Amino acid sequence: MDVQTLKQFFSTHFNAEPAFVVRAPGRVNLIGEHTDYNDGFVLPMAIDRAVWIALSPRADSKIRIRSLDLEVDSAFDLNSLTKGEGWVEYIKGVAYQLQNAGYELNGFDAVMTGDVPRGAGLSSSAAVELATARAFAAASGFAWNASKMAKIAQMAENSWVGVNCGIMDQMASAASRKGNALFLDCRSLEYQHVPLPKGVVIVILDTSTRRGLVDSAYNERRNQCEEAARWFGVKALRDVSVDEFERKIKAEITIDQIALKRARHVITENARVLEAVNIMRSGDVKRLGEIFNASHDSLRDDFEVTNEALNIMVESAREQKSCYGARMTGAGFGGCAVALVREENVQEFENAVSAVYRQRSGLEANAYICKASEGASLVE
Ligand code: GLA
Repeated sequence: MDVQTLKQFFSTHFNAEPAFVVRAPGRVNLIGEHTDYNDGFVLPMAIDRAVWIALSPRADSKIRIRSLDLEVDSAFDLNSLTKGEGWVEYIKGVAYQLQNAGYELNGFDAVMTGDVPRGAGLSSSAAVELATARAFAAASGFAWNASKMAKIAQMAENSWVGVNCGIMDQMASAASRKGNALFLDCRSLEYQHVPLPKGVVIVILDTSTRRGLVDSAYNERRNQCEEAARWFGVKALRDVSVDEFERKIKAEITIDQIALKRARHVITENARVLEAVNIMRSGDVKRLGEIFNASHDSLRDDFEVTNEALNIMVESAREQKSCYGARMTGAGFGGCAVALVREENVQEFENAVSAVYRQRSGLEANAYICKASEGASLVE
């Protein structure tokens, strides 16, 4: 939906022009999967799909918001926040955490829309959270601090919505820059913008499977990583290098085999992110593709978070000559893969992969080229 149409909806609904329009994007993770909650490194980028909010501040503490996509109105008071159910919990959660962090919030009237597919592993919830934070910053007149807002959004998701995610999605939505991926140290939250290499495009391949019992599997992986970190005697798996890992597991074999596999994924994945960042700077896309492939194999064999559809999609992509590499992206168990593809052949690539995937899996495929977009921003 374009900004004019969104503003039109606001006017029809509230009988006035909106004062601001804000947006916050979803993200695709290029590499660094299941490393964020191990204090490690990630390399996501914001995609050109986002959540948009048109709003006007109110003189009181009320929030009135209409979801244009769900065709639902919701209202609550910032002075008496109570937990309930549904999409509006993301908005309440962010309001609660902002107030908890000392921000004085103005109420607002708003309409919201978005085109980040839900449940596909492209962080539609982070987009809602960061768009909400951006809306509060506009309505209440406080400065935008990407890292602070990302942390607040993550806390909202952890303790209000009840999903135990890491910091990657919120940081990607808050701090990304157009044309760049975001190289983030999830311990210090220091980040750098890394330009995407020339001549290649990032293609998102949606398997059309959606992650099922993801919360319990996700939490189980987190626990296994913590167990492994204890075994290595470190604060987080980030603190173990690939060499240390190999030395230690040769010397002692008391570690639980599952914890060992989980640790091997995280430790080698951190090394892959660091290598990927260097390669992005030097432009060796062939090697970058190999690292993508190694990441997927590690997620499939050691971290065990792929499903059949993701494996078929990744195989179908890798068979194409124009593909440098492909891997699952996001939490896993369904959702999307991401492929690095030669720009001039991207159309044939999309057609071929979709056809092969459909034929092998019997499922619909959805492929789209995505551009690295700007993080949460005030549009008007
Ligand atoms: C989900 C979580 C992130 C991250 C990824 C896996 O997207 O929200 O914090 O852990 O899974 O890399």
